[in-house]
Amino acid sequence: MHQHAMKTIALSDGERVPVLGQGTWRMGENTRAHNDEVAALRLGIELGMTLIDTAEMYGEGGAEEVVADAIEDQRDRVFVVTKVYPHNASRTELLKRERSLKRLRIDAIDLYLLHWRKRTTPLIETVEAFEKLRAAGKIQRWGVSNFDVDDLEELWSIENGTNCAADQVLYNLENREIESGLLPFLHRRSSKNYQPVVMAYSPVGHGRGLLENATLRKIAKRHDGTTSQIALAWVLRQPGAIAIPKASSEKHVRENARSIDIKLTREDLADLDREFPPPKSKRPLPML
Ligand SMILES: NC(=O)c1ccc[n+]([C@@H]2O[C@H](COP(=O)([O-])OP(=O)(O)OC[C@H]3O[C@@H](n4cnc5c(N)ncnc54)[C@H](OP(=O)(O)O)[C@@H]3O)[C@@H](O)[C@H]2O)c1
Repeated sequence: MHQHAMKTIALSDGERVPVLGQGTWRMGENTRAHNDEVAALRLGIELGMTLIDTAEMYGEGGAEEVVADAIEDQRDRVFVVTKVYPHNASRTELLKRERSLKRLRIDAIDLYLLHWRKRTTPLIETVEAFEKLRAAGKIQRWGVSNFDVDDLEELWSIENGTNCAADQVLYNLENREIESGLLPFLHRRSSKNYQPVVMAYSPVGHGRGLLENATLRKIAKRHDGTTSQIALAWVLRQPGAIAIPKASSEKHVRENARSIDIKLTREDLADLDREFPPPKSKRPLPML
């Protein structure tokens, strides 16, 4: 099998992860799809997409069980990301989260994210509990998801808040909001040694028709590729970004893995900017 030369980036603690990973939302919801989902993830790992993103929410634990089967005999090759529901992220609840580890059948989570912000769960408790889990060896590092600039500023004002390793946010051609807020904010701080990596979720548009776009088709033709590959190459043009497309068919997995080889030209990028204009002023970060 052709092994792609997968690009990697370093997290703030030096750990290297591939820039292209695999999502799992909508997996683990239907037992009849189980074997295909496991096979898709395994193929993705084989092709270098060794970062897998899941959450206790996905299939109410079902997706984590799919991941467990996919990584069973190759745990050390895979960087496992999972997420805690905000209502489970209080001081007492978060420390009881052995369930994700049990479902994933691993000893430690590589990156544990707060799925989104819920004002009734104080951030300070979540950070405290994340740090305890880290000290206990249950997680290697922690991060957040769906955090905009103000949330990150608040997080960084909390003790140990700067240990946040990642912010997983919506980013694709149709949702460029982070270009008006989060990305410039992080770039302004890039000299600091705490720099959460940006993980782009729904990078191929969450199956909502982005991939049918005529401009994308035109550019795909230029590269003898698919619209999905152009959408992913576009996300990955951002330095320091990770994309986590979800694909449950082997065809899609193969296509996505090859996006790493596509280099968009200036003309491609200009065409995409015309079709999907960047935000002109600060927009709040939307969430799916
Ligand atoms: N933190 C958060 O709040 C949050 C929110 C949303 C998503 N996420 C994470 O990010 C991952 C990705 O986002 P997403 O699942 O919302 O959307 P996505 O990856 O943009 O899109 C997934 C959809 O695109 C299809 N697809 C994938 N590759 C394709 C290809 N090469 N050609 C045609 N269609 C293709 C998939 O179909 P098939 O499955 O049939 O292959 C699926 O229907 C999630 O799975 C999840 O892990 C996190």
